[in-house]
This record gives sequence, C-alpha cells and structure tokens, in this order.
Amino acid sequence: MSSRTKTTVTTLHNMKQDGEKITTLTAYDASFSQVIDSQKIDVMLVGDSLGMTIQGHETTVPVSVDDIIYHAKAVASRCKYSLLMVDLPFMSYTSPEMALRNTARIMQEGNAHMVKLEGGAPQIETVSQLTHHGVPVCAHLGLQPQSVHKLGGYRVQGRSDNDGQQMLDDALALQNAGADALVLECVPVDLANKITAELNIPTIGIGAGAGCDGQVLVLQDLLGITPRAPKFSKDFMLDSGSIAGAIAAYRDAVKDSSFPAEEHCFL
Ligand code: KIV
Repeated sequence: MSSRTKTTVTTLHNMKQDGEKITTLTAYDASFSQVIDSQKIDVMLVGDSLGMTIQGHETTVPVSVDDIIYHAKAVASRCKYSLLMVDLPFMSYTSPEMALRNTARIMQEGNAHMVKLEGGAPQIETVSQLTHHGVPVCAHLGLQPQSVHKLGGYRVQGRSDNDGQQMLDDALALQNAGADALVLECVPVDLANKITAELNIPTIGIGAGAGCDGQVLVLQDLLGITPRAPKFSKDFMLDSGSIAGAIAAYRDAVKDSSFPAEEHCFL
C-alpha cells in the first residue's frame, strides 16, 4: 500500500507521469468513507449516482446541490487519505456564474477538494473560470448520465469516427481550459487509450478499459448489491470475506491492471 499520507491534485498528476494507476470509488456516508479511506483508495467521489444508490431514483437528474452537500459533509468527516471529489449536479452549472456559486457551496459547506462536471465544448468557459478561481476540476466525457433523457438511454459513446474525434477534441479543449482530470464513461477501449495517450492530465475510466490512468466504480456495484449490475462492474465481494477486503481487492486489481478485464470493456 502507498506510503503517502494524503492524495492531492499534484499526486494525481505525478501518478500519471509515474504510470501508477489511480483508484477511485464512490462514497456517500461517513461509515463507508472510513472503510474506503482505511484501504487507501486514492480518490473518493461523492457522485450524483447517489440519486440511484441512496435515493432510489431511476436517474441522477433529481439530485440537488443540497443533497450533494449533505452527503459530501458526511463523507468528508472520515476522508483523511483520499482526495474528495464531488459532483456538480444536473442544472447546477448552466453558466459559469452559477457553477462558481454552487462550487463555492460544495467546497465551503461540503469540504470538497475537487468538483466534477459533465460535458465537452459547452463547458470550456466554466472549467476555465473555475480553474481561474483556484478550483480543481475533473471533466466527464463519454456517457454523461445527466443527459440520459436526451441520449435515450445509457449507451456506449464515441463509436463512430466523427464522435470519437469530437470526444478527443473536447478532451484536449477541457485540458487546455485547466481541467486536472477526466472521467471517461462507457467509451470503446481504443478511443479511451488514444485520449489517455494524447492528454497530460490523468483519465479515470469506467467502462473504458484498463488503459486509462485510473478507474472508478460505484461502491454498490463493487459490493454486488446493485440489482442490475452494469457490464463494466465487478462484484469484488464474491471472493472477499469483508467489505474492507473487497475494497482492497478492487484497489489491488486496479493497481496491477487486472481490472477491468476484457469482459468489462466495450470494443
Ligand atoms: O456519479 C457517479 O458515481 C459518477 C461515476 C459513475 C463516474 O459520475
């Protein structure tokens, strides 16, 4: 396990340089935060996936800024080693001004170290403004769950040459605007590998193959308690005797690139 005492944005950049994989897991409360932190997971994400995992909705759309802050506060109370990344929820960043206002709350009340937002070209000004004001930003391309109603379902993104090129262009523009990391969700492996190779900032994949600089999973998927688990997830509880053991197995499998395997990827 790592001898670091705390993961920072600089750590993430160094990990990409050094070829050390970044482990990320969602967390929504203090108890799980403590277990995840004890297993030295590099990044904890208070994801708007809490709309499904905690609130029981079909999508992330109903999650509010107040909801995210409530859960971020709880997670932050036990998050000592991991970097705390928090999602900007649906419609909370429709202008740079609104993004700045809501980010201020998420960082001051929720104790976030970094915010994550979905979208490419339309978010460039917002990412630039956040960066200018000293906020670390993780961008999110590929499947963007906040747009599920527009997309017509949860589907792999970037399959055509045009869509793939657009995603690469967006990734580079987000990096140039100051983004510090990029989540790639449900992206074909070759495209994710290409984006990872072109960027200086780390990519964190979910359904994007083992070539990304790191991986993220939803905690409930890892624990095998999601009713319909996505193809890209793995139940790490099956071969582990405890929750801490399952999280440690995930960490080790990401670090040695044995997760995700081919069966968890899209070609
Ligand atoms: O909300 C979330 O949990 C996420 C991850 C799936 C990347 O955005």
